Amino acid sequence: MNVLIITAHPEPDSFNAYLAARAGEIFTGQGLNVRTVNLYTENFDPREGKIFYPHLQETDRFDALREQRQHWNSNNLPEDITRHIELLKTSDLLLLHFPFWWFGMPAILKGWMDRVFVYGGIYDSRHRHENGVMQGKRALITVTAGASAGACSYNGRDGDMRFMLWPPLHALHYIGYTVLEPYLIHGVRGGLDGCEKLKQQQFLDQSAKDFADRLANISVWPTIPFNKQQDFNDDMTLKSDAPEYSPFVRHRPDKWHQISR
Ligand SMILES: Cc1cc2nc3c(=O)[nH]c(=O)nc-3n(C[C@H](O)[C@H](O)[C@H](O)COP(=O)(O)O)c2cc1C
Repeated sequence: MNVLIITAHPEPDSFNAYLAARAGEIFTGQGLNVRTVNLYTENFDPREGKIFYPHLQETDRFDALREQRQHWNSNNLPEDITRHIELLKTSDLLLLHFPFWWFGMPAILKGWMDRVFVYGGIYDSRHRHENGVMQGKRALITVTAGASAGACSYNGRDGDMRFMLWPPLHALHYIGYTVLEPYLIHGVRGGLDGCEKLKQQQFLDQSAKDFADRLANISVWPTIPFNKQQDFNDDMTLKSDAPEYSPFVRHRPDKWHQISR
């Protein structure tokens, strides 16, 4: 089994980088083939744009979808994009490690998705969701947050962090992955000194140990349910008798939705 570990953190000595390295050690210890990518170390450019496409179909305006499809078909995507796609396609398990930045993923990881999940190659209207190119593969995101578990909980001050991770989770499902329940570590704070720093280190050590224990048994890790194509009407709305798995795809708008209209 091949495992691909992608880290999106600018500091090689960060807790995120440490967790990614631990994950690599665990899977290597199990005899699996581990490949790693650090988007910052590679200096990955997250800004999709016409400079990446040598054979532009349209020169007066940039049409990202058209150029992605054309350059995929003609095998003219940039070297790093081709390499990352090859890594994804030849890995059975994908791990993404990133810190929670402004209630979402760091821009470098969002841009990685913009550029690597190529239209026409990684998805199109016939290849997505349960029919996606990555079907049969699993993906796990591991995210650290500075805020406490309470602040990130369903009724917490900062809002429900698990819900805020819908964009990366749904994107992975969109291209076909079986998506594992994300691993969240709260209260990972920087800028501490003295006693506080020591306490924090103990907490990080324990968190890393818990994470490693969970990873060692990844075969029993829970997966996130998503609606299947058959759950939707022709206009792409959820059928009234289909199961509801998420507040993002639900049967009735709630009171907040009505107020905002
Ligand atoms: C640009 C930036 C934005 C951040 N936004 C959030 C946030 O929205 N919520 C939160 O809980 N922590 C936030 N943090 C704190 C980070 O999540 C925290 O520092 C990180 O998870 C710690 O992991 P590390 O030691 O590997 O960097 C932010 C930090 C930075 C630098």
